[in-house]
Amino acid sequence: MKTNLKIAVLPGDGIGPEISAAGIQVLKAACRKHGITCELNEGLVGAAAIDATGQPFPDQTLTLCLDSDAVLFSCVGHPRYDNDPSAKVRPEQGLLAMRKKLGLYANIRPVSTFSCLLDKSPLKRALVEGADFVCIRELTGGMYFGDKFEGEDHAFDTCSYTRGEIERILDVAFRYAERRNRRLTIVDKANVLATSRLWRRIGKEMAPSHPEVNTEYMFVDNAAMRMVIEPTYFDVIVTENTFGDILTDEASVISGSMGLLPSASIGESTPVFEPIHGSWPQAAGKNIANPLAQILSAAMLLEHFDLNDAADDIRRAVQASLDEYVRTPDIQEAGRQAYGTREVGAWIAERIENQ
Ligand code: IPM
Ligand code: MG
Repeated sequence: MKTNLKIAVLPGDGIGPEISAAGIQVLKAACRKHGITCELNEGLVGAAAIDATGQPFPDQTLTLCLDSDAVLFSCVGHPRYDNDPSAKVRPEQGLLAMRKKLGLYANIRPVSTFSCLLDKSPLKRALVEGADFVCIRELTGGMYFGDKFEGEDHAFDTCSYTRGEIERILDVAFRYAERRNRRLTIVDKANVLATSRLWRRIGKEMAPSHPEVNTEYMFVDNAAMRMVIEPTYFDVIVTENTFGDILTDEASVISGSMGLLPSASIGESTPVFEPIHGSWPQAAGKNIANPLAQILSAAMLLEHFDLNDAADDIRRAVQASLDEYVRTPDIQEAGRQAYGTREVGAWIAERIENQ
């Protein structure tokens, strides 16, 4: 078991620096308590990196990531670029470059509910109660990275997948399903897309080697509907990059807030732990963003290195903060004073030291 961690911290844009600070405070508290030495080094990514270097994922940041055991990433994106279709360099390219250069082909997005937040979901309590699944999103292929063309009157993005890319992500998914409730849903659009048919064919080739896993295939439109009419249906979902992006934003409404879902991106090189949400520029600097997705990403980081006691401590303290209504506005109960990003982070860190 690893007891000294070297972590690259990439706060990025918008609410990034605030949730990052809270995540670090909590991570440090958990490490201190469990005798884990934790060296943190900050790097630039996104609009912050463009401003400083002209590049959304500078070489220096890549080197920092490659020299680290893990990356604690926050979020990127800035309205300056969203409103300028002619911008050649965009903050999001920093995130995509990081995923590609670190070979992070598997994005693990667990979706579950906190019983005290069930009424925060716009979905009926009876539907979301007990929902607990993992969405495994392919992260370095598909339309995000395929050939592109952008002309005045014509544009295209190509969805392309090779056998190797599909096999390695399905392999991750089968292994997750084996460790969980042994139900795997491979989500595609095989009635229309060639890439989906290849995914399905390879899925059917691989399934017999995992006889204990009940593997099924579901069209993405149907899966999107199923996710809101019966979210408890799923155990492990695996899907290509774009479908996974869309389905996991949809899945976040099950837990009650975008600010609650963490993720792990793993692959060939340094793993990255990041919230699934974006940079929420309108909230930047206001101390109102929910730091829990970031804090739970830090717990996933520790679990990746089998530092399960430290991770459990974080999860327990997060649960306590919710139970004791130490919550940011997005999840606070009506009539109760909400806490700030900083205050929630500090409370959880202190709780870890004392629990
Ligand atoms: C996510 C985000 C990113 C994505 C954006 C910021 C490029 O939405 O991690 O889900 O589309 O992958
Ligand atoms: Mg997304």
